[in-house]
Amino acid sequence: MSKTSVRSEPRQEWEKLQSAARFLKERVPQPPKIGLVMGSGLSAALGTLEDEVSVPWGEIPHFPQPTVAGHAGELTFGVLEGKPLVVQRGRVHYYEGRSMGEIVFPVRLMKLLGVKIVVLTNAAGAINDSFNVGDFVLITDHINTIPESPLRGPNLDELGPRFPNLNDAYSPHLRALAHEAAQEVGLTLREGVYIATPGPMYETPAEIQAYKRWGADLVGMSTVPEVIAARHCGLEVLGISCVTNYAAGIRPEARPTHEEVLEVTKQREKDLAKLIRALLPRLQA
Ligand code: HPA
Repeated sequence: MSKTSVRSEPRQEWEKLQSAARFLKERVPQPPKIGLVMGSGLSAALGTLEDEVSVPWGEIPHFPQPTVAGHAGELTFGVLEGKPLVVQRGRVHYYEGRSMGEIVFPVRLMKLLGVKIVVLTNAAGAINDSFNVGDFVLITDHINTIPESPLRGPNLDELGPRFPNLNDAYSPHLRALAHEAAQEVGLTLREGVYIATPGPMYETPAEIQAYKRWGADLVGMSTVPEVIAARHCGLEVLGISCVTNYAAGIRPEARPTHEEVLEVTKQREKDLAKLIRALLPRLQA
C-alpha cells in the first residue's frame, strides 16, 4: 500500500461520517443532545418518543448493517422527558467480524449530530459474586481484551487527539446523577469494572478467575470500543450493565447461555427504562 492510500484512510472515514450526518440532519427535526445505545433486548420498554422519527440503519449512508436476525436496526430521534435524544437499538459487535470503524461509527455519528452525552447499556456476566442476576451496575472503568483499538491507524484529527487519556472515562458526575435517579425510582445501582472480551464464546472458568484477579467485576463482549471512540471525540459517557448471569465458574452452576441472557434482559428492561427516564431530566446536555 502506498503512503498516499494510508493517509487517505481517515479522510474517507471522516467523509463517510459527514455524509451520514448530512443525511440525518435533513430528516431530523431537532438535533439530539443525548445518545442512548441500548443493548439487544434492553430497549423495547423505552416506548415511543415525542415527535419520533425513525430511520432504518439501511437508509443511512455508510451505517453498519445489522447481522443478527430479528434486529430491527433503526436510529430513533425524538424527545423523552424534555430531552432531545437519539436511540440506537442494538449494536454491531467485534465477534460478528465487524471492523472497529463499523463498531464505532454510530457513536462518532452521534458526535457529529450534536450529542454531548452518551449512555451505553449492555448485558454482562457477574465476576463479582456479591452481584445478583438482574442487578444494574454502573461501569466505573474498563479492561480491554478485544485485540484491536478503534483508534489504531492514522488519527482522525477532526474528532480528537492522537493520544487521548482514559482517566475518568466513565463520568463520575454522570454516575452520581444515575444514583440519584435510581433512588427516585426505588432501584439500587452497583458499581464495577467491566472487562471486554472478543467473544463470541463465553469465557472459561480459568479466564474468569484471571480477570477477577485483574480487578474485573463484570464481563461482556461490547461497549469498550464505543467508549474509547466516545472519549476520543469528547463525549461524556455513562455505562450501565444489566447482570444477566454469573460468569463461568463463579457459581458451580454458572454455565452462561444466550437464552438466559435474553431472558434476564427481557425481565429487566422495564426497570432500565424507568431508570433512564428518571435520569434524563438530570442531564445537562
Ligand atoms: N460473558 C460475556 N459476555 C456476556 C456474559 C458473560 O458471562 N453475559 C452477558 N454477556
